[in-house]
Amino acid sequence: MTDYDPAENARKSYDVAIDAMREKLASFKCVQIGDATLYLGDCREILPLLPKVNAVVTSPPYGEIREYGGHASSDWLDVISSIAKGLQVGGVCVWNVNDQVINGSKSGVSFRQCLHAKECGLRIHDVMIYCKSGTTFPDRNRYLPAHEYMFVWSNGAPAHFNGIRDRVNKWRGTTLHGTDRLPDGSTRPIHGLGSDVPDTGLRRSWWEINNTAGRGDARGHPAPMPYAMAHDHIVTWTNANALVLDPFMGSGTTGAACVKLGRKFIGIEIEPEYFNKACNRIDEAYCQPRLFKDEPPKPKQEALL
Ligand SMILES: C[S@@+](CC[C@H](N)C(=O)[O-])C[C@H]1O[C@@H](n2cnc3c(N)ncnc32)[C@H](O)[C@@H]1O
Repeated sequence: MTDYDPAENARKSYDVAIDAMREKLASFKCVQIGDATLYLGDCREILPLLPKVNAVVTSPPYGEIREYGGHASSDWLDVISSIAKGLQVGGVCVWNVNDQVINGSKSGVSFRQCLHAKECGLRIHDVMIYCKSGTTFPDRNRYLPAHEYMFVWSNGAPAHFNGIRDRVNKWRGTTLHGTDRLPDGSTRPIHGLGSDVPDTGLRRSWWEINNTAGRGDARGHPAPMPYAMAHDHIVTWTNANALVLDPFMGSGTTGAACVKLGRKFIGIEIEPEYFNKACNRIDEAYCQPRLFKDEPPKPKQEALL
């Protein structure tokens, strides 16, 4: 009889568990295109089997606003729990969502999802607003519905912030002036007093995005994410070669942006029709020139103007 070795036993159990996960993952249809790995299946089953990622840029079905072949209705709290477990330290999840109106009331699911992310240990790093150029027909007692949320959750402080500085400065051509107010009510001259105000400054936390453009690329998906949203969030929160995940891949907008920006990508889509669209789109993205061969420039800490 051999001696029982708890460490050896734990190692064996671990190996058995890993083999079982690999086997389960291999049971899903998977298409590899360059650095993009695309799975056909339910993200609730696939997410726990994946490696940790640097970022998630996604947009889940919003209640039952669209049918997606019968895969629409869920509050996706289980998906958020899996994302929280699968984000690297410093990783960021961008969750673009809106609320359905049910019996005259906004569902509030978006807020429940955001608070759930916090309960899972993520930070609510930002609550950003996506201002749409087009609107849907409003109810008679509401303003034109023209915005959605872009929640930014992070595992600890975000590892990267490559803030986009394309907002035209109102005070360009002048010099910095003014004071900061301190907690005790007194004031002090602002940092950089007297220096030139640059032509452009850091973007605000609401992004105006044309949601009627780029439909051609999405090829008939009923609710594609605007390409600019995926692109600009990937630029902001990741550096070259990061691994980015979209568990609700749809037509592959996040994947196409990853190819362009030199990020690795994992996408999951449950509907075969959309999965095929995403495969074709990402394949074509590889045929077009990429923007980054090397690391993009490191972010600079500058005055918030
Ligand atoms: C709002 S759309 C995402 C659109 C995508 N961002 C794009 O740009 O095309 C949500 C997608 O999630 C898919 N979906 C729904 N339930 C799913 C599930 N359990 N696992 C994976 N995908 C799912 C739907 O089929 C739909 O394509």
